[in-house]
Amino acid sequence: MTENHTTTQTGTPVGSDAHSLTSGQDGATALHDRYLVEKLAQFNRERIPERIVHAKGGGAFGEFVVTGDVSAYTKAAVFQPGASTRTVQRFSSVAGEMGSPDTWRDVRGFSVKFYTTEGNYDIVGNNTPVFFIRDGIKFPDFIHSQKRLPGSGLRDADMQWDFWTLSPESAHQVTYLMGDRGLPRSWRTMPGYGSHTYQWINAAGERFWVKYHFHALQGNEEMQGAEAQRIAGEDADYYRRDLYEAIERGDFPAWKVSVQVMPYEDAKTYRFNPFDLTKVWPHSDYPLIEVGVHTLNENPENFFAQIEQAAFSPANTVPGIDISPDKMLMARVFSYPDAQRYRVGTNYNELPVNAPVAPVHNYSQDGAGRHGFKAAGAPVYAPNSFGGPVASAEAAGEGSWESDGALVRSAATLHTEDDDFGQAGTLYREVYDDAAKERFLDTIAGAVGGVTRDDIRERAIQYWTNVDAELGAALRARLEADAADPDQAAEYVGVAE
Ligand code: HEM
Repeated sequence: MTENHTTTQTGTPVGSDAHSLTSGQDGATALHDRYLVEKLAQFNRERIPERIVHAKGGGAFGEFVVTGDVSAYTKAAVFQPGASTRTVQRFSSVAGEMGSPDTWRDVRGFSVKFYTTEGNYDIVGNNTPVFFIRDGIKFPDFIHSQKRLPGSGLRDADMQWDFWTLSPESAHQVTYLMGDRGLPRSWRTMPGYGSHTYQWINAAGERFWVKYHFHALQGNEEMQGAEAQRIAGEDADYYRRDLYEAIERGDFPAWKVSVQVMPYEDAKTYRFNPFDLTKVWPHSDYPLIEVGVHTLNENPENFFAQIEQAAFSPANTVPGIDISPDKMLMARVFSYPDAQRYRVGTNYNELPVNAPVAPVHNYSQDGAGRHGFKAAGAPVYAPNSFGGPVASAEAAGEGSWESDGALVRSAATLHTEDDDFGQAGTLYREVYDDAAKERFLDTIAGAVGGVTRDDIRERAIQYWTNVDAELGAALRARLEADAADPDQAAEYVGVAE
């Protein structure tokens, strides 16, 4: 059909988009109005489940260009000198639902998919270098505590602080979240981190532990609680709009990408567990090494097809890059593809936004919505004698680490500085200046002020006392003053609201 006529999904011209087929002007609607039925049925199926976490977000396509030389540490093609690779990036907030305001205080997701010549490589990180917990078995509990009460459907400060204070390993991340970095001015003006420790393998088979850092070339910029609260009411899509409009006007945001590299053997004797996601590696121990620049330069043409259906996963690694014995990371590599098979569908990796530029050869087949298929006569099993693809350990370039011992459920401390509060205290005392410390006190006083149960409130004061004794005392004094004069209570835009 060359003319611009409306058709059914099967290409047949339809009679009207305004009038259903009825028996007489006021008569019953005919069930055999196939177009009406198709139109309504198709509409009923427009939504897919939102992401279980990180539901609200936005994104764009871009390019990653290598500017450094890290070939001594990894053989991954995407990081070799001279390489440039197309990417898609998605930013998000964690706890809010799909329509929630962008400027609620929360951690922000920072996901990049590199369409490399060796398969897709995804870095699925956050704007903070650490996380609330260090074992994936706690993740559903953590998220339940931050989302909504089952009865009222409301967010609840009691359950947030109950979980955090009973999980002291959260202190470092909560110190980030309640500080200025908990409210970036835009996705363009915040950093990104791979957060976990990953493994790199070079061409000689030598192994290294690495952490990724993305520094915004626009600089970091934050906003304060009162402004974030106002914007949440005025423009729930503030970050999404900011990114889209910047790219539309050619103001392409870019991040410098660096890594910290730890020699493989150092991990065994380092002063704290380098695979503990609640810790950062001091730059004085492992300085940043330049890798490249990532620039976002192309808006999606269709938000649903290209951003909502985008499926990022820490399981998507390439030769020369692998995971590490971080218990969070090992849980995540199971969790993401599982979520995506449910959320997007079994064959989600065939959708254009998820499909690799590298050819796909394996023996999986069929399933709902299958698009690609093998040539007739191609073998459908391995091993076979018909010239089908053969797995190769050499091509896979997988990493490895020593792992032995009885099966245990344990968080035994093997390193001397595996505590929960040390780095949180350092962040508060040494990174936050006096003004930032005052804002921090305002924010935690507002947040803890929302707790109704005395025992949880008392535990929260103890939690901050463990981070810093003076901070704990100041919080207690502030909460008492606020209780005496509620009008003066600190303003807080938080995960609680
Ligand atoms: C074991 C702990 C964790 C589990 C089980 C988990 C699970 C999930 C799941 C199921 C999704 C939705 C995926 C989808 O439907 O496409 C998701 C999204 C996401 N998670 Fe996690 N997560 C964990 C920890 C983390 C950590 C530590 C980070 C950051 C360092 C992180 C960053 C993200 C981001 C950025 C997204 C959104 C990805 C996108 O933009 O589509 N998660 N997570």
